[in-house]
Order: sequence, then structure tokens, then C-alpha cells
Amino acid sequence: MSQKFPYAQNSPFVLEMKPGRYAWCSCGESKKQPFCDGSHEKVGMRPIIEVITEAKTVAWCGCKSSEKKPFCDGTHKKFTGN
Ligand code: FES
Repeated sequence: MSQKFPYAQNSPFVLEMKPGRYAWCSCGESKKQPFCDGSHEKVGMRPIIEVITEAKTVAWCGCKSSEKKPFCDGTHKKFTGN
């Protein structure tokens, strides 16, 4: 299966998160993956805003193709086979 572009990487960004408001990069152009750095303005896309209410480990989608954006749902496995 071919992957829709753009994407940041073919695996999730697994990060320990503190409570807060986060802007997940949907365009794949950010240099601060998996979060927005404003690069979407060049490509006409917008970030997804997610509020994390408690400290926890989060798997942020890196392939930008998850059906449960901004979180990884395993869709990246279609591209990597892993
Ligand atoms: S990294 Fe996108 S679905 Fe897992």
C-alpha cells in the first residue's frame, strides 16, 4: 500500500506527556514533530489541537494517516509491514 504524503515518519512518536494543550502537526512539514511549528501555512493545512488532562504516555501518529488522529492506530503498519 502506498502512503499518502506528507508524513513525518512511518512509526508513532511515543512521548511522556504532561497535562496541557498540544497542537499536533497534520501536514508533516513541522521541524518540531510531532507538534506544530507553523509550517502548515505553506501547505494549507491545520494542526489538530489535543488537550491532555493527565500525565501519561502518548503514541502520536507520525505517518499522518491514522484514522484516530492525532493518535497512532496502527495504520502505519500498512506502509512498513511492522
Ligand atoms: S504512526 Fe500513524 S498510525 Fe501509527
